[in-house]
Amino acid sequence: MSAAQYGSDPARKLPLQELAAAKREGRPLVMVTAYDYPSGRIAERAGVDLVLVGDSAAMVVLGHSSTVPATMDEMIMLTSAVTRACRQPLVVADLPFMSYQVSDEDALRAAGRFLKEAAADAVKLEGAGPMIARIRALAGAGIPVVAHLGLTPQTATSQGGLRAQGKTAQAALRLLHDAHACEAAGAFALVLEAVPAPVAERISSELAIPTIGIGAGAGCDGQVLVFHDLLGLGEGKLPKFAEPYAQLGDLAVAAVARYAEDVRARRFPAERHTYAIAPEELERFRRLVDEAPPVTAEDEGSVL
Ligand code: KIV
Repeated sequence: MSAAQYGSDPARKLPLQELAAAKREGRPLVMVTAYDYPSGRIAERAGVDLVLVGDSAAMVVLGHSSTVPATMDEMIMLTSAVTRACRQPLVVADLPFMSYQVSDEDALRAAGRFLKEAAADAVKLEGAGPMIARIRALAGAGIPVVAHLGLTPQTATSQGGLRAQGKTAQAALRLLHDAHACEAAGAFALVLEAVPAPVAERISSELAIPTIGIGAGAGCDGQVLVFHDLLGLGEGKLPKFAEPYAQLGDLAVAAVARYAEDVRARRFPAERHTYAIAPEELERFRRLVDEAPPVTAEDEGSVL
């Protein structure tokens, strides 16, 4: 099978080394989440550098109240659709909760599926501590891996909820040490979520790999936003760090409501939405109907 059949053209991919170069040159990296073919196409057409198939899909696409329920099969399906859409941006797939926490072997198998079955370019996992060994195992196997520190939604319950992390001197120092450990283990980038801006800035300045912030201030080397937050597609309150650049949810509701009104008022479909039949064929059809014996349910083999 050729690369083109996989939907991803390595020749046009942003090389991983470009990311570190962008950091050195002070060029901010742009990442956005995507979960299907249309969102992947929008990300590519907008010219972003990286696309994250986040396990936030569990919430914004599948309607769960946290990222925990996301399964491997769901994430593989969503990631495949995104990689079919994205030729240029690097596609990073989130390893779902409990696909990597138990052992290095689990992590390798899960990451391998994302690369082989879904054509992802890289995977992301959350946390430090025992997860440092996972990063080392993945990077050692040649699987590009993004680390994720600060607020880690898969383990938010043990962090006291969806809240900012690294807000005390000790906690900030721990984050800095963890960030160094992620880099030393072989992560090629680090997502910092909901971390005070000066702490994220210090971490970013100490690491050679790029940091990608979400709620971590402008001192990060790049930024990531959730697609649905960025486009105003959700219904609830946005997190403090999200910026809606459009209100597509409201536009979509208004459009569907207008469609419903038009159907009910028989304004849709109009003449232009219909297919023609030649008058002589229509006339023949009418004659055939009039002359033919009535069709019974039995003739049609109906089970009704
Ligand atoms: O799942 C996700 O969308 C993420 C981002 C918030 C970084 O992990």
